Amino acid sequence: MNLLTAKNLSHTFEYELFSDVNIELNTGESIAIIGMSGSGKSTLLHQLSTLLIPSEGSVSLFGEDVASMSKKRLSTIKRHDLGLIFQAHYLFNGFSAYENLEVAQLLSGEKIEDTLLEALHIKEPIHQKVTQLSGGQQQRVSIARVLTKKPRIIFADEPTGNLDKKTADEVMQLFFNYCKTNSAGMILVTHDNDLAHQCDKVYHLKEKKLKQIK
Ligand SMILES: Nc1ncnc2c1ncn2[C@@H]1O[C@H](COP(=O)(O)OP(=O)(O)OP(=O)(O)O)[C@@H](O)[C@H]1O
Ligand SMILES: [Mg+2]
Repeated sequence: MNLLTAKNLSHTFEYELFSDVNIELNTGESIAIIGMSGSGKSTLLHQLSTLLIPSEGSVSLFGEDVASMSKKRLSTIKRHDLGLIFQAHYLFNGFSAYENLEVAQLLSGEKIEDTLLEALHIKEPIHQKVTQLSGGQQQRVSIARVLTKKPRIIFADEPTGNLDKKTADEVMQLFFNYCKTNSAGMILVTHDNDLAHQCDKVYHLKEKKLKQIK
């Protein structure tokens, strides 16, 4: 089943960043986007995840055109179906890790799963304040928060950037398993070629075009 279809996307800030970008994500599938720093990967991910309106082209989610959705419909989809994991992870700093997860639980109506906390190795420090966690622990809490929502699409921008190789591999396996077992999809931006090639498809953003290389 189709989760996301983007057609002829382009983006122009002061100059054109990319154009003619087409991409399709289906259930159970993972897609990686690689490319040089500054090529526009994060900008593209923001467009695909409805955070940024494309200069041209269209994005549809679950068969619905984003541009013609009502505000209400869009916020429902964002709350329940989209999981955004970006490098600046915006946890609530005054709260404990667990309280951050409770917010996700409240908003989505899903349960916090113990197995998820175990898989991410954050059971021990779960009641510590966010500011008392290491950068990598904070990153894993933000991943737990997103997965607690049970999203249908995960958008991840360098989600394992703060983690050592072993932990990063474990986290990525968690994502891949999540997609397969929940019929979800993932679009991953990464600088790590090996990681990219663990995804079902790989796209390269280069010279303003998005080319499929796997
Ligand atoms: N809000 C903005 N206004 C103007 N220019 C922007 C804005 N956001 C990004 N840019 C510019 O667009 C270009 C692409 O940025 P983007 O963050 O998409 O790159 P990237 O491929 O994700 O890079 P990196 O791998 O370093 O994260 C950069 O030159 C950046 O300066
Ligand atoms: Mg980026």
